Amino acid sequence: MIQSTSPTHKRGLWSSRLGFIMASAGSAIGLGNIWKFPYITGMHGGGAFVLFFIFCIVTVGIPLMIAEMIIGRHTRKDPVGAFRKLNQGRWVLAGWLGIIAGFLILSYYCVIAGWAVNYLWLALQGTFTPEHAAKVPQLFTGLLASDVRQLFWQAVFMGMTVFIVIGGVKSGLERANKIMMPVLFMILVILATMGLRSPGGTTALSFLFSPDWSKLDPPAMLEALGHAFFSLSLGMGAMLTYGSYAEEKTSIPNVAVTVCFMDTLVALLSGLAIFPIVFTYGMEPAAGPGLVFKTLPILFSQMPGGVLIAVLFFLLLVFAALTSSISLLEVVVAYYCDENKWGRKKATLIMGGIIFLVGVPSALSNSMLKDLHFIGGRNFLDSIDFLCTNYILPLGGLFIAIFTGWALTRGLAKGELEKGAVRFHLYPAWHFLIKYVSPVLVALVFLNKAGFF
Ligand code: TRP
Repeated sequence: MIQSTSPTHKRGLWSSRLGFIMASAGSAIGLGNIWKFPYITGMHGGGAFVLFFIFCIVTVGIPLMIAEMIIGRHTRKDPVGAFRKLNQGRWVLAGWLGIIAGFLILSYYCVIAGWAVNYLWLALQGTFTPEHAAKVPQLFTGLLASDVRQLFWQAVFMGMTVFIVIGGVKSGLERANKIMMPVLFMILVILATMGLRSPGGTTALSFLFSPDWSKLDPPAMLEALGHAFFSLSLGMGAMLTYGSYAEEKTSIPNVAVTVCFMDTLVALLSGLAIFPIVFTYGMEPAAGPGLVFKTLPILFSQMPGGVLIAVLFFLLLVFAALTSSISLLEVVVAYYCDENKWGRKKATLIMGGIIFLVGVPSALSNSMLKDLHFIGGRNFLDSIDFLCTNYILPLGGLFIAIFTGWALTRGLAKGELEKGAVRFHLYPAWHFLIKYVSPVLVALVFLNKAGFF
């Protein structure tokens, strides 16, 4: 199941460039694309925000993704092992931050993804029909108030994640992504087409794509940059770990550009799937976290064909979440396999179990533990999320950018970049971006999120 790639370690390898692309796109495309991107776009003025988001993907996202992937492939290690191998320990902190972030993000990601699995189950039972419409608004409040149901669905989702990761790089991660990603794209195209043809379609189009530059203020710009970062799974070594399974002949710049393009495309298509429904029924587009679990189900239960659309939509959400959660668990598992020489099965089962337990307070944070408040009055789940997305990930990304731009030798970076391509002519541009532009922009996001301005 696990292929031997070096004389000393038994590590996996993607079977092809396509497998590598699907897995990395699977990691990037997640809950962040399907509900968060459309609603922050709405809040920050539509078209101008979208164009600036694409600018961030090009100037920071692509260079940083390339950086993570070349470090991974060159060292063929987990994030901690990779920095240790390249730089005798000084930068190992960046690797550690990554492992901790993977651990913490996955703990609550399973809770939210568990809600999505629950909704998929409800949709399959035909809950979102006009006869039940009166009960739909209370479904989400009911779910949040129930400890048992949340723990159950959290466990189900963690079980699915563990099941895939145990299978290894080729038969687990690659195979699952190669099945789920095409289905995800198909569902999204169907939903976006239906959206565009519905009465709210044109309003949604102009809402998403007509730029009003006056709305693009500094907070909007920082939000776009921060989201580009989270949406591309950067800053914690997830792309580094996936890069460590890449074949020597694969061109990394080529893969990174493709993945960034797919991630952006899915974010835009999600907007085209969701907003037409919202506008057709005259609802509030900036409903935030409740948009997917509260607003949409109410609309599904009112619209013609809503039963089927609900099934497709929640299947889309579960697939998007699952292809991301397996990348989070893989970072932690790779660390225990590479550094502690554990077997994959042992590492996956033990770490999956521990991360599930760490997630229990998050699952209970809206019910049994709802009176416990931490960072800025947030409940447990929101506090861990806040800590990871606002501090740990930007800090990890800053370290990786500085390390690549300033500490990695030109020969090593250029050698990795040019593998699989005749020559990588854009080396000077990439090096300039990763050395100067990315660190400055990421530092700005970090200082802003940390409340310095
Ligand atoms: N990119 C995913 C999303 O958009 C979330 C995610 C998965 C992630 N793996 C990650 C974020 C690693 C940061 C780092 O939902």
